[in-house]
Amino acid sequence: MQRSRRPFHLTMPIALIGFMGCGKSTVAHYFEKHYKIQVMEMDRKIEEQEGKTISEIFQQEGELYFRQLETELLGSLQKKPLIVSCGGGVAMRDENVKLLKEKGLIIYLEVSPETVYYRTKNDSSRPLLQGKKTVEDIRELMAMRVEQYRKVADIIINVDKKTIPQICRELIGEMEDTKRKNRK
Ligand code: S3P
Repeated sequence: MQRSRRPFHLTMPIALIGFMGCGKSTVAHYFEKHYKIQVMEMDRKIEEQEGKTISEIFQQEGELYFRQLETELLGSLQKKPLIVSCGGGVAMRDENVKLLKEKGLIIYLEVSPETVYYRTKNDSSRPLLQGKKTVEDIRELMAMRVEQYRKVADIIINVDKKTIPQICRELIGEMEDTKRKNRK
């Protein structure tokens, strides 16, 4: 028998940030399915808009062009309930962080290099992981980002060795705590 879920509602956008392979899209779609909250996957939206894959955009237009598209997309965000699954590099630009913080909350899904390696080792769709063949390669790239992810996050959830429902329950608990604290 399925356990019934407590209702959960958003009043503003929440942005999931974190390294490639941390599970942003999977977590976002769990909320979409079980809590009927709308999702925007930034990478998919940009691919649709450009009619190209992320790899093609990187190859043909360059990374800077892609980064500009990310910022433009965030500029069009409205203050309404939405889960934004951000590309792994989004939080690296202060301008993007400002746009996200103006509208809602930033949630950092923290993951280990080992988990990322395991999840992405056969993936060829992420340009920045091409040639990153070992856990050490991933650790190195991650180390350049972790401080910024942690600094900008309103909530940090570690995702290693947890199931998606566990992560989502923890996230809901943290968001409810944040709401209570802000009310005081
Ligand atoms: C990137 C992460 C990717 C995608 C692009 C660049 C990054 O998104 O936006 O390949 O800089 O970390 P995911 O984090 O969804 O894989």
